[in-house]
Amino acid sequence: MNLLLTGGMGYIGSHTAVALTLAGHRVVLYDNLSNSAQVMAERLERITGVSPLFVSGDVRDTDRLCHTLRHHAIETVIHFAGLKVVGESLEIPLDYYANNVQGSISLLQAMHVAGTRALVFSSSANVYGEPRYLPVDECHPTGVTNPYGRTKLHVEEILHDLARSDPAWRIVCLRYFNPVGAHESGLIGEHPQGLPNNLMPYIARVATGELAELQVFGNDYPTPDGTGVRDFIHVMDLAEGHACAVAYLNAHPGWQVINLGTGQGYSVLEMIRAFEVASGRPVPYRIAPRRPGDSASCYANPEKAHRLLNWTARRTLAQMCATTWAFQSGMGTEGPA
Ligand code: NAD
Ligand code: UFG
Repeated sequence: MNLLLTGGMGYIGSHTAVALTLAGHRVVLYDNLSNSAQVMAERLERITGVSPLFVSGDVRDTDRLCHTLRHHAIETVIHFAGLKVVGESLEIPLDYYANNVQGSISLLQAMHVAGTRALVFSSSANVYGEPRYLPVDECHPTGVTNPYGRTKLHVEEILHDLARSDPAWRIVCLRYFNPVGAHESGLIGEHPQGLPNNLMPYIARVATGELAELQVFGNDYPTPDGTGVRDFIHVMDLAEGHACAVAYLNAHPGWQVINLGTGQGYSVLEMIRAFEVASGRPVPYRIAPRRPGDSASCYANPEKAHRLLNWTARRTLAQMCATTWAFQSGMGTEGPA
């Protein structure tokens, strides 16, 4: 199948490109490189043996998207492109609405004109807000608390309206929990610019010695060891979930929202210990105040993904840490991607 991956040069998009290429699909990566680099294409070729088709462009450029969809006879789009940092979205909300909401509308307009009606959308567990019960299933009420989460929820609602308006549309919104890890080659992975906001990339840079210590945001939560608990999911499991969603879309019109998580929560302290074992390096940390807006615990009920997509996450916490370390420790020779 011919697939367009907007934001396909980024962290999740690149790993999904590997999974889809190895499954025999032809992928076109459409990206403005605002948070990725051209070298990614070469890395993908080294992993898959196939040179990926890359189109440099912004998702707000409807004409360029339309041309790309037609030129490559795209049958399904996976829409990763967007901005994703919760804290930043509070500072520059307009950029978030422009990239994430306006960008999605532009893509949908292009798809409408080009006659492409199948879409997988990258949503987030962020739309649930503070969990009211655990594990979080798709019936859990939404409760966004920041502009980033609101952009995701707005787009989900737009997609739902679109599916209701025209039965030809096939749409799956995937709500990711906490993607971590890297491809087992160590060639691609997550490389945030500047100081990492998320736990795993921060731990990885403390382990290399680039950063002195990790701040553990709160140890007085109502969790077994007092630190926050999250549903960390290996990015290659997540990538394979997209391949399953594409197969599902082939056979099912309409709109679905589906969690992609493992169903298993790990605490911040458990993550630190697992990373120390995987890397053989110490991860010094100190307890700091809670981070505003954080919840104590959040993990998925992944049953719907299993039922509809026949997908289950299978990689372990040890694999999440080992692959992150392989990528992080190899960057001195390879450079970031
Ligand atoms: P990423 O920043 O690594 O990848 C996003 C890619 O989109 C980048 O390559 C960037 O250059 C590109 N991009 C951004 N704006 C664009 C635009 N206007 N036009 C074209 N390209 C553009 O992020 P990621 O972690 O791979 O996330 C992918 C998607 O998954 C995002 O939509 C994000 O909100 C969502 N998501 C991510 C996480 C996470 O923890 N990583 C969790 C839940 C949901
Ligand atoms: N944490 C620390 N120190 C750090 C960073 C994080 O102790 O330096 C803790 C947090 O307090 C939290 C846990 O590690 O308890 C996980 O934090 P992350 O920032 O890695 O992840 P979040 O669950 O806060 O949020 C992430 C993404 C959101 C997304 C959500 C669900 O940043 O965009 O996962 O997918 F919505």
